[in-house]
This record gives sequence, structure tokens and C-alpha cells, in this order.
Amino acid sequence: MRALVMTAPGGAEHTEIREVEAPSPGPGQVAVDVAYAGLNFVDVMGRRGDAGYVTAWPYRPGKEVAGTVRAVGEGVTGLAVGDRVAAAPVGGGLAEVVLAEAALTVPVPDGLALREAAAAPLGLATAVLLLTDAGRLTAGDTVLVHSAGGGIGHAVAQLVPLIGGGGRLIGTVGRPEKAAAAVASGYDHAFARDEALPEAVRAATGGRGVDLVLDPLGTEALELDLELTAPGGRIVLFGNAGGGAVADLPPLGRLMAGNLTVTGFSHRALAATAPERLARAIRTVLDLLAAGDLTLPVTEVPGLTAVPAAHDAMAEGRATGKYVVRVAG
Ligand SMILES: NC(=O)c1ccc[n+]([C@@H]2O[C@H](COP(=O)([O-])OP(=O)(O)OC[C@H]3O[C@@H](n4cnc5c(N)ncnc54)[C@H](OP(=O)(O)O)[C@@H]3O)[C@@H](O)[C@H]2O)c1
Repeated sequence: MRALVMTAPGGAEHTEIREVEAPSPGPGQVAVDVAYAGLNFVDVMGRRGDAGYVTAWPYRPGKEVAGTVRAVGEGVTGLAVGDRVAAAPVGGGLAEVVLAEAALTVPVPDGLALREAAAAPLGLATAVLLLTDAGRLTAGDTVLVHSAGGGIGHAVAQLVPLIGGGGRLIGTVGRPEKAAAAVASGYDHAFARDEALPEAVRAATGGRGVDLVLDPLGTEALELDLELTAPGGRIVLFGNAGGGAVADLPPLGRLMAGNLTVTGFSHRALAATAPERLARAIRTVLDLLAAGDLTLPVTEVPGLTAVPAAHDAMAEGRATGKYVVRVAG
């Protein structure tokens, strides 16, 4: 089978498509014939060699797929060869066949295309968990989302009204030209992250600030988040897009004074420690997609060979929205 392989830290120059042996499932695992795989920034962080993402090279990226069950391992129940599924493998999803834990392999409802389902296991599931479990979104909350122009950013915009938010939705983008795409995806406002941002957010919230911040920028914007969060607000830190060192968290007194919550979220850690919670989130977003309540427009990358260029666009902050690659079919 063909698989995308990263041979050393760096960029596209170290990415190849190789012929490798198709894996067979161990106990509790499922082998999936991949039809579509989602592209995610975590693969770019791995490719760059960010600390803590890749433990050995060559590395096979890809953490969300949709396809059909090719084989099931010992002890797997409720899934059979030929079933259409979406799955969150630990890695190796940018390939024609991938192994995933059965606990993180979810049937795709009838009528839902595998192309759209491929955005569910990591991207959409993360977005829903950021808003619910981690962010505790409440009706009327004003939400501020950094990197609003990307895959997670667009997913959050689609999900907020479905989860019952209803307050103002404000996004930030690294490049002003990405603001229009963020607004088109559902943000009431999208601002570039420059010196005018704090004042723009204050004006957009009538000076009150925001109730929930979703921030994948490490601690780069944490001071700004604290400044813009209304009393009782929540800040969810869920990434380190820049890949640099992170600062200490704010002193207790500052959190207590504002009744503020700072929360971390990790899809990878949830997959390892509470797979049933992650599987439930995947089921939720698949059902919303199948019912037509949720639509997440995706850009289709035509094949594995086109993935390194798409990763380049993500690494350079040029990408907008969600990308999925057609692996087979
Ligand atoms: N914790 C978790 O479990 C989890 C799960 C999924 C995603 N995430 C995080 O959520 C973020 C969005 O993920 P995604 O897959 O949807 O990717 P994405 O938004 O399509 O792409 C990442 C975005 O990060 C921003 N960025 C900020 N600093 C950057 C830098 N130094 N280099 C490159 N990009 C930079 C860019 O947007 P702007 O410049 O417009 O801000 C870029 O478009 C990522 O940071 C990812 O790591 C975390």
C-alpha cells in the first residue's frame, strides 16, 4: 500500500510517498481502507520537529480518516468488514490502510459522504469538545477564537449556534486577508492579530469583554486573553502553533480576582485516557453532519502526492478552512 512518510524534521523536502506493507489489526484494533483523510496542523508540528510530537523517524502522520473496515482484530465487537467508519488513529492515517483502536472507530451514518466524515474524528470532535467539555459554552456567551480562519476555526463557527451559544462570535487571524473567510464561515467579526486588536474586541463587546476564549497559540496571546476576558470567563489553551517555548500560567491571585478559568485541552490525551468521551464527540458530529444540521465545507486535496504542498500552506499560515485528502476511490 502507499503511505505518506516523513523521513526527518523539516518540511516537504523530507516527505515521500512510499510503498509499505499494509498493517494487520491486533487485539481491539480495526484496519481501515482509507477513502479520505483529514489534514491537521498537528501533522505540520510533527513535520517541523516540534518537541513532543514525533518520537522516531521516519514518521507516518495522519490522525483522522474515513473509509471502510478491512479487517477486525481479536475481541472487536460491533464493527464488521465493509462497514463505513470514521476513525481517530494514533498516526499513519495518510495512507491507503491504517490501524485504529475499535474504541475510536465510529460507524458513519447512511447518506453521509466519507469525504465529509473524514473531518470528524479530530477536527470537528475537537471543536465540539472545546466548546462543551472544556469551554462550558452557555447561551449568550461571547466567544473569541484565535486562528479563526483554519479548520478548527471554521468548525467552531459552525458548531456554536448548534450547541446553543447565540452570543457574539469573534475570530482573530494572523493575516488580514484571512478575515473574510472567517466571517464567511460564521464569525460576526474577524480581526487581524495586531496592535488594534484589543480595542476592536472591546468595541465589538460594548467594553464588556468575552466569556470564552479558544486559544491554540501557546501562551503567546495569553496576556491579551486575560485582558479581554470578562469576569467569570474561561480561557481554553489547546495548542502551540508557533512551536516555541511557553510561559508560566498567570498567578492565582489574578485568576481568583476575575473568577477566571484557564483550561488545557488535548485530543491526543483524551484518546489515550478517555476514548469513550472522544468517541461520543465523534458520534455527535457525524450525526449532526448526517442530519444536515452541520455543514463544514472542505477543500479536497486530490491525492497523497499533493499533501506536502497543502502542509506547506498550513505551515506558512496561508491555508483557510478544512482540507481532506482523497486517498482512494
Ligand atoms: N489540543 C488539541 O487536541 C488540538 C486538536 C486540533 C487542533 N489543535 C490546534 O488547533 C489549531 C488549529 O488546527 P487546524 O488543524 O485547524 O489548523 P489550521 O487552523 O488550519 O492551521 C493552523 C493555523 O495556526 C495559525 N498559526 C499561528 N501561529 C503560527 C505559526 N507560527 N506557524 C504557522 N501557523 C500559525 C495560522 O492561522 P492564523 O495565522 O490565522 O492564526 C494557521 O493557519 C492548531 O494550532 C492545532 O495545533 C489542537
